[in-house]
Amino acid sequence: MKNFILGIETSCDDTSLCILQSENQQTKILAHFSYSQDEMLKKWGGVVPEIAARNHLEKITPLLKEVFSTAKINLKDINLIGVTTSPGLLGPLLTGVNAAKTLSMLSNCPITPVNHLHAHLEAIHLTNDLAYPYLGLLVSGGHTLYILVQDQYSFKIIGGTTDDAAGEAFDKAGKLLKIGYPAGKLIDDLAKKGNKNKFAFPIAMKNSKDANLSFSGVKTSLKQFLDKYYSNKSIPLDELQDICASYQKSIIEALILKSTFALSTAQELTNKKDIPIVLGGGVACNSYLRSELQRKFKNVFCVEPKFCTDNGAMIANMALRTIKQQVDFPKCLTLDATSTNINKKQFRQKK
Ligand code: KG4
Ligand code: ZN
Repeated sequence: MKNFILGIETSCDDTSLCILQSENQQTKILAHFSYSQDEMLKKWGGVVPEIAARNHLEKITPLLKEVFSTAKINLKDINLIGVTTSPGLLGPLLTGVNAAKTLSMLSNCPITPVNHLHAHLEAIHLTNDLAYPYLGLLVSGGHTLYILVQDQYSFKIIGGTTDDAAGEAFDKAGKLLKIGYPAGKLIDDLAKKGNKNKFAFPIAMKNSKDANLSFSGVKTSLKQFLDKYYSNKSIPLDELQDICASYQKSIIEALILKSTFALSTAQELTNKKDIPIVLGGGVACNSYLRSELQRKFKNVFCVEPKFCTDNGAMIANMALRTIKQQVDFPKCLTLDATSTNINKKQFRQKK
């Protein structure tokens, strides 16, 4: 029997919807559309929660029309709705949750609440049949965490940033370098032509023998460097490339260094020497991070770039994976701000 799952992601600045078809343990993406607010947010140099929420509201209906017409199914064909309920910005989250509730009422279809962090890592299963447990390295605009993923229902955080996220370190550097927002991909591209050993930016918490990181210092050191050498001067392209490569190297080296500690913790906790590492989240698109992690560790699985930045497919995938075995959700996966009945967990029988 075919089942159709609608995934809704609105936790930050991407409105993303996906219709996933599931049949005999096989999944297929029928339609997947996103609206990114990047262009609009350039003006502000970052996410403005209220503007982001209003944009989700404006874009979600046209996107819904788009996914349903592309998937060539109707709302009444949907068996399950997955929606991000945490973590995220409250206004944007509520826009998605209210859309899910409305669609659920119209179609009498259950909703599964989805944890955005867990979904980022579980996106590996969109392309890979990986077994549990695994060590997740989740690197995004809002989070940098080492997570021991025990299964699709439970995870344990074993380290992470004590201040800024890795993506934030890229985006704030973009602002200082005046190259645009979001800056991760821009810095990644500029760095490809630069000399990563030209400038030495610091690696914070280098000597702490744990899986914790800090990225606020590297951004401050970039600011001091730019104030000292380029105050009121524009940066020539070749120098900009060297700065980007050196700055990126400091972020990626910190992540690689702390992955060693996270891995040994995960090995101890699971008693598995060969526990795999899964790299997910927007910063997981970074070409240097992908290649370095694969070079330094044996058993590494990187989420496909198109499923790394916020997307509806990872939400639909997570909803499907958590519904299959009909196990109760931990409380941490529900959004307290939403009301009743969001936690029903069975497929609607197709008539
Ligand atoms: O996962 P995501 O779409 O949103 C959050 O959940 O935060 O991640 C967005 C972040 C931004 O900070 C963006 O600059 C970063 O991912 N990013 C990258 C790259 N592509 C996106 N960072 C480094 N290198 C990239 N190629
Ligand atoms: Zn995300």
